[in-house]
Amino acid sequence: MIQFRAVTKKYKNDHYALKNVNLDIMSGEFVFIVGASGAGKSTLMKLLYTEERPTSGTVTICGKNIAKLSNDQVPSLRRWMGIIFQDYKLLQTHTIYDNVAYVIRTLGMSSKEINARVSGALKIVGLYDKMNAFPSELSGGEQQRVGIARAIVNGPQLLIADEPTGNLDPKNSMEIMQILDQINQRGITVIVSTHDNAMVDYFRKRVITLDNGTVVRDIQAGTYE
Ligand SMILES: Nc1ncnc2c1ncn2[C@@H]1O[C@H](COP(=O)(O)OP(=O)(O)OP(=O)(O)O)[C@@H](O)[C@H]1O
Ligand SMILES: [Mg+2]
Repeated sequence: MIQFRAVTKKYKNDHYALKNVNLDIMSGEFVFIVGASGAGKSTLMKLLYTEERPTSGTVTICGKNIAKLSNDQVPSLRRWMGIIFQDYKLLQTHTIYDNVAYVIRTLGMSSKEINARVSGALKIVGLYDKMNAFPSELSGGEQQRVGIARAIVNGPQLLIADEPTGNLDPKNSMEIMQILDQINQRGITVIVSTHDNAMVDYFRKRVITLDNGTVVRDIQAGTYE
């Protein structure tokens, strides 16, 4: 599904965030991306959702080199994937329902279909009964569950989560990771960057370790170290 071939990313300040990264991620996989702060985890994910473009090399998703995607092709790629952020990025003046409905409202669906999809996504994350609350009325763990509902509401094939539990305590982190695992079991490919060694050791998924912009370890059913 995803191929990185000789991918290098150099930022404007001449800093190499990724150096000659080669990776294959198959459809249906659950992958942890780990590594010290500054190792290049977020950069790798930004290349996937085309927030950044590689300096050299190719990033291919479903046979398409997304490094060459024109700006007007980006929205259709993004609709095909869901993105989850450490800081949730919820709209504070919108209800939970509206946060989740926001993106699909632009797609020309009937309100009945929107309602069915938003309700379905909120049920998956266990927040159906809080749809009329505002983000400030929810705990951090609940806010991140809204972030997940928003990411899956459009039925993506790929879910990308950059440190989704970075602001959460161990109990909430576990709940979030379990929801991501359940979503993966529905066949959606999931890529999660994390510093949370306990979580990585618990779930025993594929673990890709970055160090200074290079893949130094890539093992199945792995641990953090
Ligand atoms: N926009 C940017 N401009 C210049 N340098 C950047 C930019 N974004 C990231 N970097 C640098 O690239 C390197 C990799 O950054 P990246 O954010 O990918 O690391 P990370 O593994 O996600 O770190 P963290 O665990 O702290 O989130 C770092 O040295 C960082 O300072
Ligand atoms: Mg990061």
